[in-house]
Amino acid sequence: MLPLKDKDRPIAVALLGAGCCPRCILRFCCVSLQSAYRQPHEDILFELQRFIHEKVADESHGATEEVPADSPPCKKVRLEAEQGGEVHEGGEDISVVEGKSKICVVCLGVLQDFCDKDFAKKVAEAVTSEKYEFDSLVLSVSLPAQLSVRELCFLNVSSICRQKGLCLGKDDVIQVKEAFKWILQSLLSQQLGVPVVSKSPLEVSVGFTHPETDGDSASSVLFHFPFLGVSALKSVFTRMAVAKALERISEESFRSMKVIYLPPTPYLVLSTGRYNKFSRTLPQTPWVIDGERRMESSVEELITSPLIASFQAEGFNFSSSGREDVDVRTLGNGRPFAVELLNPRRARFSPAEVRKIQEAINKSSDKIRVRDLQIVTRDAVGHMKEGEEEKTKSYSALIWTHKAIEEQDLEFINDIKDLGIAQKTPLRVLHRRPLAVRQRVIHTMATRFRDDHHFYLQLRTQAGTYIKEFVHGDFGRTKPSLGDLMKTETDILELDVESVDVDWPPAVTDPESGENPDLPASPQHGGTPDC
Ligand SMILES: *[C@@H]1O[C@H](CO)[C@@H](O)[C@H](O)[C@H]1NC(C)=O
Ligand SMILES: *[C@@H]1O[C@H](CO)[C@@H](O)[C@H](O)[C@H]1NC(C)=O
Ligand SMILES: *[C@@H]1O[C@H](CO)[C@@H](O)[C@H](O)[C@H]1NC(C)=O
Ligand SMILES: [Zn+2]
Repeated sequence: MLPLKDKDRPIAVALLGAGCCPRCILRFCCVSLQSAYRQPHEDILFELQRFIHEKVADESHGATEEVPADSPPCKKVRLEAEQGGEVHEGGEDISVVEGKSKICVVCLGVLQDFCDKDFAKKVAEAVTSEKYEFDSLVLSVSLPAQLSVRELCFLNVSSICRQKGLCLGKDDVIQVKEAFKWILQSLLSQQLGVPVVSKSPLEVSVGFTHPETDGDSASSVLFHFPFLGVSALKSVFTRMAVAKALERISEESFRSMKVIYLPPTPYLVLSTGRYNKFSRTLPQTPWVIDGERRMESSVEELITSPLIASFQAEGFNFSSSGREDVDVRTLGNGRPFAVELLNPRRARFSPAEVRKIQEAINKSSDKIRVRDLQIVTRDAVGHMKEGEEEKTKSYSALIWTHKAIEEQDLEFINDIKDLGIAQKTPLRVLHRRPLAVRQRVIHTMATRFRDDHHFYLQLRTQAGTYIKEFVHGDFGRTKPSLGDLMKTETDILELDVESVDVDWPPAVTDPESGENPDLPASPQHGGTPDC
C-alpha cells in the first residue's frame, strides 16, 4: 500500500490527469518512503489508480463499476494499465485520471524508463568496462535544466491544492534526483556487488540531456500552463486545460531524452614516501629549456613511472617537502614526497604489493632510492607542508678556501652557535623570487679538515637558509658569510642534504618481518632546503 492520505487525492488526480508519472505523483505527495519508489512503475500506477478510484467509488455510493477500496486488485484494470492504454471507465473525472502522455511531463521519463534493472545494468556495464577496482561508489546525477522549470510548474499545482486547506502536514516535495537515486542506487548496488554510499573515491555520474525541450521550449512550458494562477484553479482538474497546456510538446520530443553514461569522474589516489638522491646530475623535475631536454631523467620521473604503471593512472602530480638543486644529493632518511595519481584503474594494493612497487623504483636506477612508500588519503599531503619553516635541516658540504689552511684554522667554526645571518634573495633565484632579506639562523657547524685548501662542513640550520650563498657570500648579499668569518674567499664544491625533518609520512613496517629496517636509530632534524 502506498502511504497516501485523503489530502493527497486531489493532487494525485490533478497530476495524473496532467500526464505525470506515478513516481512524480508520489514525489509531489511528499512520500518519503524509499521502498514505495522502488516498486515497479506499473504497480505504483495501479495502486495510485485504486487510491483515486476508491474515493470516486465512495462518493458515488458504489453506483459506478469501480472497485471498492477493500476488494482485491482488479485484473482487468491492471492489465490495461500495464499496456499503457487508456481505461475507458467511469465518467469525465475518471478518464482524466488515466493520464494522457505515456512519458511523464515533469521528469521527462527519468523516473519511468531509467529506473529499472536494464538501465542499472547499462550503467554497471559502463563502469565495469573501465576496469576500475573499487569497493564502493558514489552516484551522482545531472538532469536537464529544463526539468527544474517543469518541477516549478507542478510544484505550484500541488501547492495550490494544499492551499485549499487540504494539507496540514509537512510540505517536503521529493526532488527528482533524490527519488532517482533511491531507486538506482539499490539496483546498481545489486549489479556491481558493492555498496553505493555518499562518500567514495569512485564517483559514477549519470547525466541526462533533452535537447528537444532545451532552450525556448523551456519558457514556453512555463507560459502555457494557464492553470498556475489561483483564478484558474478550477481548470486544473479538467482534461482540456491540461491537454492544451501540453500541446506544445510532441510525443516524439519526449522520446528524445538522452542518457549519457559519463565515465566515472577522475579521482585521485595519493601515494607518499621519502626519497634519497645519490646523483649530482639529476634534477628533481624534468629540465626543459626552450622545449629542449637538458637532463636525461629526473627524480620525479624515476619515482612516478613505476607508480603510474602499477596504478594504471592517467596522470600524476608530484610534490615534495622542499627540493634540492640538480648537483645536490639528498641522503639520510630522505625527502618526503607525495604523488597524486589521477584516475587510477587500480587503487587497492596490499602492503606487500606496495613494497614491490618500491622495490621496482629502487631497482630502476642507482640514482635514487625510495622508502616508506604508502597509500594515504588525499588530505594527508597537508602534513608534508605543515610547519616547514620552523624545522631545521642538516647538510654536509665540501668547502674550498682561497687561502691555505691548517686544521687549527677551523676550530673556531666548531664553537659558533646560533649564528644569525641576513640573506638577500640570491642572484640565481631572483628571476623567480621577489627581492627580500631573509633572517636565518645557523644553529651549529662542525668541520673536518681534508687538505690545505679543502675541508668538510656539517651544518644544522633553520629551514630556508641558502647554504651555497652562506658559503660563497653571493657578492656580499649574504652577511656574514663563511668567507667573512674565515677572512678568505670560500666556495662550495659539493653539497648534500643529510636530513629533512618532517615527521611525515610515517615509517612503514616491513610486511614480512614486521620490523622496519628503514627506521632511523634516533629522530633527526631538518627542513626545506633551497640551497
Ligand atoms: C504559482 O502560483 C502562484 C499563484 O498561486 C503564482 O503567483 C506564481 O507565479 C506561480 N509560480 C510559478 C513558478 O509559476
Ligand atoms: C596538480 O596540482 C595542482 C596544484 O595543486 C593543481 O592545480 C592541478 O590541477 C593538479 N593536477 C592534477 C593532474 O591533478
Ligand atoms: C629501497 O631502498 C631503500 C633505501 O636504500 C631501502 O630502505 C628500502 O628497504 C628499499 N626497498 C625495497 C623494497 O627494496
Ligand atoms: Zn515523472
